[in-house]
Amino acid sequence: MIQQIRVTVNGESYELEVPAHRTLLDFLRKDLELMGTKSGCETGDCGACTVLLDGRPINSCLVLAVEADGKDVLTVEGLAHGLELHPLQEAFIEHGAVQCGYCTPGMLLSAQGPAG
Ligand code: FES
Repeated sequence: MIQQIRVTVNGESYELEVPAHRTLLDFLRKDLELMGTKSGCETGDCGACTVLLDGRPINSCLVLAVEADGKDVLTVEGLAHGLELHPLQEAFIEHGAVQCGYCTPGMLLSAQGPAG
C-alpha cells in the first residue's frame, strides 16, 4: 500500500508517496538521499538513527515514514547553518568526541533535543 505524506525535513517541505511499511530512516536515506542519518542495529538499541521528530529525539528505524506525516523532522544535515557548524558540532570537534564518526549524527541529535 502506498500513502502520500507531507513532511518538513530540515525546514524544507516534501510531499511524496511512500510505501506504508517504509521506515523514517529509509525514507530519509533512500527517498530524500539524506545520508547523514545512520543505520546501525535497526532494532532501536544503538541510537545511530536518531533524528528529532517535532523536536523530540526518536529512533528513525522504529518509526514509519507515514507517522511523520504533517510533522517536522530535523536531521544532522539541518544542524549547521551553511558553513557555520552548530555549537554541539563545534564542541564534539573540540573535545575529540567524534571517534569514527558513524554514531555522531545520532549523538548530536540526542544532545540537541528536546530542550536543546
Ligand atoms: S539503527 Fe540502531 S536504534 Fe535505529
